[in-house]
Order: sequence, then C-alpha cells, then structure tokens
Amino acid sequence: MERDLKQLISQMTLEEKAGMCSGQDFWHLKTVERLGIPKVMVSDGPHGLRKQDGDADHLGINQSIQAVCFPAACATASSWDTEMLEQMGKTLGEECQAENLSVLLGPAANIKRSPLCGRNFEYFSEDPYLTGKMAAAEIKGVQSWDIGTSMKHYAVNNQEYNRMSCSSNLSDRALREIYLTGFEIAVKEARPKTIMCSYNKINGTYASENKYLLTDILRDEWGFEGYVMTDWGAVSDRAEGIRAGLDLEMPGSNGVNDAKIVEAVKNGSLDEALLDKAVENILKVIFSYIDHRRPEAKFDRDADHEKAINYAAECAVLLENNGLLPLKQGQKAAYIGEYAVKPRFQGGGSSHINCSKVTSAWESAQAKGRPVTYTKGFPADRDELDPQELAAAVASAKEADVAVIFAGLPDVIESEGYDRKNMAMPACQNKVIEEVLKVQPNTVVVLHNGSPVETPWADKAAAVLEMYLGGQGVGEACDRLLYGEANPCGRLAESFPYRVQDNPSYLNFPGDGKDVNYQEDIFVGYRYYEAKELPVRWAFGHGLSYTSFAYGNLRLSSGKMGDGDSVTVSVDVTNTGTVPGKEVVQLYVADKNGTPQRPVKELKGFVKLALQPGETKTAELTIDARALSYYHEGLGDWYAPSGNYEVLVGHASDDIRQAGTVAFTTAKELPFSITGATTMGELMSHPKTAPVINGILAKMAENGLSSSEEDDPLGTGGEMMKVMIQGTPIKSLAGFTGGAVKAEELIAELNRRLEK
Ligand code: BGC
Repeated sequence: MERDLKQLISQMTLEEKAGMCSGQDFWHLKTVERLGIPKVMVSDGPHGLRKQDGDADHLGINQSIQAVCFPAACATASSWDTEMLEQMGKTLGEECQAENLSVLLGPAANIKRSPLCGRNFEYFSEDPYLTGKMAAAEIKGVQSWDIGTSMKHYAVNNQEYNRMSCSSNLSDRALREIYLTGFEIAVKEARPKTIMCSYNKINGTYASENKYLLTDILRDEWGFEGYVMTDWGAVSDRAEGIRAGLDLEMPGSNGVNDAKIVEAVKNGSLDEALLDKAVENILKVIFSYIDHRRPEAKFDRDADHEKAINYAAECAVLLENNGLLPLKQGQKAAYIGEYAVKPRFQGGGSSHINCSKVTSAWESAQAKGRPVTYTKGFPADRDELDPQELAAAVASAKEADVAVIFAGLPDVIESEGYDRKNMAMPACQNKVIEEVLKVQPNTVVVLHNGSPVETPWADKAAAVLEMYLGGQGVGEACDRLLYGEANPCGRLAESFPYRVQDNPSYLNFPGDGKDVNYQEDIFVGYRYYEAKELPVRWAFGHGLSYTSFAYGNLRLSSGKMGDGDSVTVSVDVTNTGTVPGKEVVQLYVADKNGTPQRPVKELKGFVKLALQPGETKTAELTIDARALSYYHEGLGDWYAPSGNYEVLVGHASDDIRQAGTVAFTTAKELPFSITGATTMGELMSHPKTAPVINGILAKMAENGLSSSEEDDPLGTGGEMMKVMIQGTPIKSLAGFTGGAVKAEELIAELNRRLEK
C-alpha cells in the first residue's frame, strides 16, 4: 500500500510531530491514534531477541522473553560466510515478525581497534571490508522479513570507557578508510532501514548532532533513506540533532526534549521542514513494517536452537593442530574446566539473551556415549585456583589418552559498559593448562572468549580450537568439531598479537577520558603488524582444517584497468585431503607504486567454497578502482595513483598462494597548488610544470651546479645531488641560482601553467 506520508504529516500538530521524534518508553515509538499512527516496538539485538515485556533497561539486567542466542559477531565474522549470516538474519527476522518487533537493534559494525574494547564480542572485525560484508548479509536476511535493522554504533565508538562523552579524534582518512567503510558497504548493499548513532563525539562533535556524518556522508553520499535513532540516551542538543539529521531520540525524555524542538521551531532557529523530514523518515519505516505483517512467521525455539548449533560449527577457528584432532572414537578423553559443563557463549550488556536452552560439550559427549571424564580444574566465573581441583585435573589428564581443556574468559571480563584491563586469561586457567601439558602432551585447549587472549602455552598444546562466543549451541558444535563430525572452517577476523603491548593503539587506549587520539591512523590490526613486520601469534585470516587445499591457475580478466573498470580474478582451489571441507579464498590488494603511508596489503574480496575430497572449484572475485584506492584528504575523494597493483590470493593474510598484477590508469588529478614550499621533485613529476623546472635545472648545471659524475666526490653516481635538488623548495632557489630565479615570479608563472 502506497501511503501519502506528506499528507499525513500535514495533519499533525507541531507538538505531535516533535513527539514522534522520541520514544514513548524504553522500547516503543509513539502513537497518534487520531491519525492511525500505530505504536511499534524495537528490541536488541544483534544475535538474538532481547524483548523486554516487563521492566526495561538498556544493559541487559532485567528479564526478557526466552529467545535463542545465536553466535555473537566475533564468531559469525569468523565464518567469513555471508550466506550463513544472511540465513541467520532471516531466522532473526522471522522471530521478530512472530514477536511483533518492528526493528532489531543491530548489527554492530564498529571496528576492533584494540583487543581490550569490552564490547569487541559484538563487533565483527579489525577489517572494514569484512565488517561491511558481514553486516550487509545480516541486514539483508533480517529485512527480507520486512523487519528493520539498526546498524550501530555510528560511528568511531571503539571503546567502552567514557563512551557517552569521550571524543574519538582521528584524521579524515582514517575515518573514511577504517571506521566508516564497513557502514558504507552495508548501507549501499543492504539498505538498513535505520541507523543508530553512537554516544561519543567524533573530533569534538557528538555523533547525535554530527551533520557531516548523519547527513553529508550517510544520506547525501551513501543514499541512506531510513531513520537515524540515538543510542539509548545519546542526545545532547535536541534541536541541533534535528538540524544535523538525527530523527528519533531513544528512549525518549518524557517530553523534555520534544518541548525543545517545539520551542526551536517557534523561535525560528529550527526550520519546520527539517522536522517534517525527520517525521517522514520515521513514519516510512513504521509503515513499512505495519503494512507488511507476516502472519505465517513462527518463533520455533527448538528448530532455531538446531540452527544455532550449525552456525556455531561454521564459525569456530582451529588455531593449532599437530594432528591430534579430530579425536578418534574410543580415545579416552579427560574434559577439564568448568566451561565443559557451563559453556561461556555470550557477552554482557544489551545483547544478553535469556536462552531457551543451552547445550554443553559435556552433555553432548554424554548423549553420544563418548568415553569422557569431567574434572572441574578451575571455575567458570572467577580467577581462583583450588590446589585439590588442580591435582584432580592433572591426575585425570594423566590417566586419559587425551585431555581437552575448556578455557575462556569469565562473564565479568567481557561486557558492554567497560573495557578489559589486559589481554590475559585468568591465571588459574593458565596454571591448569601448563600443569596438564606437563603430564599429557595430547592436550587440546578449547577457547570461549569474545576477543583475543594471550596464550603463553600455545606452542606446547597439541591443538587449540577457538569457539569464540558461539551462542547457545556452542557445546554441541564443539563436540562435532572435536570428533570430526564437522570440519573446522572458520578463519580469524582479527589478528591475535602475542602481547597487548604489540597492538597499535596500545599507547592511546582508552585516552584520558575526554579525548582518545587515534594516533595509529589507518594502521589498525594486520595493516600495522605487517607494516612493522611484527610477528603475531595468529594472523588475520588464519584458520586450519582437517583437510588441505591447493591453489592454482590465477588469471585476470584483464591486466589493465581504468577508473570505471573492474577486473575479475579467478583461481582454482582443490581439496587435496580425504574429508570434505570449506576453504575461505581471500583476496588482498597491494599498492606497488611507492605511495607513502599505505598498508602492505588490504583485504578486498573473499568467498567460501565447499569442496569434496579431490574436488576443484574456481573462485571468482572482482576488484574495481575503489579496491585500489585510499582516501585522499586533499581531493576529498578516493584515489589510486596510476601504476601497478598486486593482486594476492590465498588462505590467510600470512599465507598467500597466488599473485598477479594489474596496471591501473586514472584520469583523476590531485589538487596541486604551488607555494614557496613546493619542491623541485613535486614540480618535476607534474607534466605541466616539469618543462619549466627542467629548463631551470639545465641553466643551473651550466652555471656549475651540476649532478654530473665528474662533480661527484662521494662517488654516488650523481644520486646525492639529484636527491638534494629534488628536495629543494622554490623559496630556496634564489640562493642556488645567484638570484637569477625570483621565487614569487616563478610561483605565479607555474600556477598560471597549472590553470591552463
Ligand atoms: C547500547 C545499544 C543498545 C541500546 C538498547 C545501549 O546501551 O549501546 O547497543 O541497542 O542500549 O539496549
């Protein structure tokens, strides 16, 4: 049904319009009964429904309805499987329809700047491209059920410390390349119906009143057409918010801020047309839900629990394996660690789900009659070592054929609202792992955590299986992976540094409470570790399998590319092992033109292939000019210099198997304005100024200032002189030419040539 919203808005009073721009309570938008505007509900998000029928809160404290907890984004991103995430989104969308929720508050697309951010478990990756693709997949799935999503927290909210007031200070380049690209991809590809702005300031301006972010970029550049809502309580100056492009305040201020909107319109400081636009944005999304109710939708908790198990199995990352995994039938296994019976599978805060059911690895092993013993070893919820429990764990490990230690981070360590203090595992767990390893070399460590941990024992363990926060089906998924009923196929969506001190944000995280300066700029995650040649424990994209894959025959649809072109990269991948498996084919691009300040390489494509033993499939990935580009602040646009770009395809960022080269030509010109500080080198490399400069240099050579070999006491082949001339600014030429060159005249002449 096409509704005439403008007509509807024309019938609303100023007070009704202002009221429409804030929530009625914690989870509902307002109704205007006389005009048939219904009350709709929104709810967290992002990996399950946290629908609160009773007491409401935004930190997951009070009870919500029983729902299904799917793997958190730290896990789903590790699947690198957009189809799976779209399916998960569809399941969530159907659940929302069945529960009468108009908008699911997620996904969360913030970048993992530091492993210490308390909320990393809810975020996808340190890489913006992977983040964008995964967010887009979830949005497409949820919205296919005519439910809205609210991609959050827009933007540059990468820590919990003082998240409600701190200013994230960064360059425009880092903002665009690292912190916005994920949002940009998802907005353009999946058209989320709503966006949630973050609490923090960006370069001094609150996200909730940041016109650059909310209007200039989000709507004007990316074409966003839905409504922007605040994070819960993120309003600062309400009228300024409307001017900047913020539509809906949540949860609502009991009329206080609505009155400020009314007053601003009345005193002329707020254009009523902007208010009308905000109301239209909100009504459009409300009615897109109301007019598309889907009575066939069901919330089948048992069926969705099964899906949660399957998804968790697709997300797990096998970090180490000396061949011990998969475990053999009949092998006596000692399960150690309380997470074996009480798995940790979700983080704290607003995403916290009241689960319909949870399966532990221990229950699954029991149900399948596996020869397994269980010893607690250490508690799931605190760092406390009981010497008797340690001794019992060591004894059980000694008696068994293999030990499986279920380790991880206690609930209190990872939550919304605060950051982690360090990257360590609880000392009691490290101690149990070390002692067990002394008596049982066949030891597997299973990890349950939402962000990287330091693993000082990793070289000694026979295998390490990262389950992340895998949702309520994590135990059964883990059982299937340990015993080879499923083959691990996740890949890390983030680097695991050896130590937190290695992380590029280490010296500037979390700031002084008022400001946090993103000094590492674009060098986040693997972009930094690779540029510094700093070894990491496990690299971005890493993940093992019970089979092996061979790559071959990389071809490019063309070796040349211009601004509007794209090139298809094809590569053949074969399963060379004996069991079915899935390979994530990863494509990275490297600028080979000596451009300053570029990462060694950047992820620009990926695809997950399912392969039977012996089977070969061709992966096809496409790159365009944007994939080669960086954000040029002077140009205010994306830019790739003409030249060669390497296309690198492989199994992980540190395991590239095939390479090709594309020659790129751009018609874009960088802004060039000449001043006294402009150097000879810059002038010599620009076609319009090079002839003038070459003429001057020829004269200088005649007058004795030469770069010839005779005049080369250090024997550098004239190189030294060339380099010195290249670095000489116009303002210093007068001195070198005995006054023959007049700087002001030359600058004027060169600028004239540039304009021609
Ligand atoms: C969180 C959001 C959440 C909202 C509502 C806020 O504290 O930052 O992610 O959607 O609460 O619960």
